[in-house]
Amino acid sequence: MTHPIDYRGFYLVFREISRLVHSTSSVDEVIRLAVYKTTELLYAKGTLMRVRNPDTGEFEVAAACGIAERFLDKPPVSCEKIMEDLQGGEKVRIFRDIWAAPRTDSPQQVWDEGVRMILDVPLYHDEELLGLIRAYLSDAHGFEQAELDFVVSLGEQCACALNKARLIETQRSQYNRLVLQTEKLSALGRMAAGIAHEINNPLAGILLYSSNMLKKAGPESPFRQGLEIIVRETSRCKGIIQELLEFSRHKPPKKCPAKINEIIEKALSIVDNEMMLRHIKVEKRLARDMENILLDGNQMEQVFINLLLNAAQAIDKNGHIVIETRMDPCRRIEIVEITDDGCGIAPIDATRLFEPFYSNKNTGTGLGLAVSYGIVRNHNGHIKVASKLGGGTRFTIELPVHVGSGADTSDRGTEHGTP
Ligand SMILES: Nc1ncnc2c1ncn2[C@@H]1O[C@H](COP(=O)(O)OP(=O)(O)OP(=O)(O)O)[C@@H](O)[C@H]1O
Ligand SMILES: [Mg+2]
Repeated sequence: MTHPIDYRGFYLVFREISRLVHSTSSVDEVIRLAVYKTTELLYAKGTLMRVRNPDTGEFEVAAACGIAERFLDKPPVSCEKIMEDLQGGEKVRIFRDIWAAPRTDSPQQVWDEGVRMILDVPLYHDEELLGLIRAYLSDAHGFEQAELDFVVSLGEQCACALNKARLIETQRSQYNRLVLQTEKLSALGRMAAGIAHEINNPLAGILLYSSNMLKKAGPESPFRQGLEIIVRETSRCKGIIQELLEFSRHKPPKKCPAKINEIIEKALSIVDNEMMLRHIKVEKRLARDMENILLDGNQMEQVFINLLLNAAQAIDKNGHIVIETRMDPCRRIEIVEITDDGCGIAPIDATRLFEPFYSNKNTGTGLGLAVSYGIVRNHNGHIKVASKLGGGTRFTIELPVHVGSGADTSDRGTEHGTP
């Protein structure tokens, strides 16, 4: 029996599905409409759609139309089985002999239901199989090309919707993981701050009494060496506790117009000695056209000291650090780059650098970069890292230039030099 082709119906359904795919993130609506309209426009007895479950990889029944209730309770089909059935790679597979159709558990029952032909449309997105539409027809007639084109296009739209839903789901679960991690970190931070506070006072007592005893112990005293160790190690613990308290305190920045180059010069003068001891050459490439920007000078100085010390520690001895500033007038930002030719960072470690307490140094607290990250973010800026294991590291800081922060663009050019 031949049916009139409903070209207008094809066009309207296609338009409706395209609209849905772009306007909604609910894939259910798209696949429901697809099975319903496939049934209607192909004059099918019923249509069933299987969709791949991303967790199990199996293809489960996701929507159906015109299929008797007792046929809906179908078990999931493994991906391997479906791929095996689709080996030919056709966009539509037509089975005029329903006994030859794959995955038909009981062809006789299907026949008794009045089905004489089965049509399969695999749903591919970028060559990845995301689902399958199966239409059951009551007569084994031929199809016009327009009808086949319609089901293929419908399948492509469904694959798009499935892919979109999958991307949204991935983003959502990544976001949830991040939120959970942030909550855990902030709880850990609060706990660490509480412990640090409790430890701070007894530590101050130990340091005070041991320092007094050390002063009183003569050079020959048998206690002298032990006391020196107590004082040194207690001071180190106090330093760590102090940094931890500073980190958890979240001081808001006190911003005033400042020149980034001057802050860098101050930071360099503080780490100068360290660089000399390690025989590290520091090259300054400070652009002269840097504008005044709103900054908390002390906090930003701390950031540069952290980055320069990290660079020096990554080099250990005999290396080269370049500190460069420049203005990006189009994006209205100032850029500071600190590049070293030190040990570099493995990609897996690079993802954790800014986490509090992440350190691979014996004496590091792992707070340097976490604190620097917080400070730069409080200045509405960005800090990023590019590194290659064994090939050095570059930290880039971008800070916005605020309107009205007191532009000063008097002399332009770039200064090169070694301190
Ligand atoms: N320039 C760099 N080159 C190679 N590795 C780096 C560099 N900067 C940071 N790192 C890595 O990032 C880790 C975290 O740095 P961060 O400054 O936060 O802590 P830290 O230096 O270990 O301790 P501290 O709290 O004393 O600064 C370091 O332990 C180091 O492994
Ligand atoms: Mg550090």
